[in-house]
Amino acid sequence: MKVANKKAIVFGGTSGIGLATVNKLASLGASVIAVSRSPEKAGDLPTGVSVKQCDVTDRQALAALFEDCAPFDILVSSATGGTRTLGPLITMDMDGYQASFDKLWGYANVVRFGTQHLSENGTIVLVSGAPARRAKPGQVSLSSVGAAVEAMVKTVASEIAPRRINVVSPGIIDTPMYPAEGQSRQESFTANTASHLIPRAGTAEEVAQGIVFMIENDFVTGTTVDVDGGWLLS
Ligand SMILES: NC(=O)c1ccc[n+]([C@@H]2O[C@H](COP(=O)([O-])OP(=O)(O)OC[C@H]3O[C@@H](n4cnc5c(N)ncnc54)[C@H](OP(=O)(O)O)[C@@H]3O)[C@@H](O)[C@H]2O)c1
Repeated sequence: MKVANKKAIVFGGTSGIGLATVNKLASLGASVIAVSRSPEKAGDLPTGVSVKQCDVTDRQALAALFEDCAPFDILVSSATGGTRTLGPLITMDMDGYQASFDKLWGYANVVRFGTQHLSENGTIVLVSGAPARRAKPGQVSLSSVGAAVEAMVKTVASEIAPRRINVVSPGIIDTPMYPAEGQSRQESFTANTASHLIPRAGTAEEVAQGIVFMIENDFVTGTTVDVDGGWLLS
């Protein structure tokens, strides 16, 4: 797929990986709609980018947004969904664990209500996370939600062909998802990536490159690309 002159909708497109994807798609000549719950957070966006407000867990609002924007060629979701809870299962706050799955339900809603308006050769990319296939202690919520996203995509790929759907799985990426600031932020990235083959946090732009690869390559569907600094081998 050539991205130029295509219409793209990016959920979570106002921060981090989604925002980097919005910028990359716009630089390649797509007309892009960046969506989140508080899109005013995005600040200045490039020419060709508009913003819309929508919560991906609100199915009615999402269906209305798709009706309004249809037809389109590219759907990306990197929306975190809501809160996420970390920690070992045996001491887990179970409401928090369940709430972590809002990411899955948000993605499922996007695919469920968006695919019907996607062009015949259209393409979808979702974002999982390295713990889906190699988790560290305390990451049971990340691991089970990420694995569910990847399993969903494998099944849906055969249901929506010839349209394509793929996943990009990031390792630790320096985005606003991590609230720490200053020295403690850097120290946490250094400590948490020390055992990785590429011992640093990745950038949102590096993940966006993986997302654009999945969009452009017409021979790729139902699979996952890892952009994780070697997390899976560490
Ligand atoms: N950063 C990492 O190290 C890392 C690692 C592995 C996986 N990931 C995954 O990568 C994806 C993107 O993460 P990120 O680091 O780019 O996070 P981020 O910078 O916090 O961005 C998250 C985006 O999702 C939007 N969002 C959250 N909940 C939403 C909802 N219910 N409806 C609509 N939009 C919603 C947020 O905007 P609003 O708050 O305005 O809604 C924001 O634009 C996530 O799925 C995350 O789990 C990230």
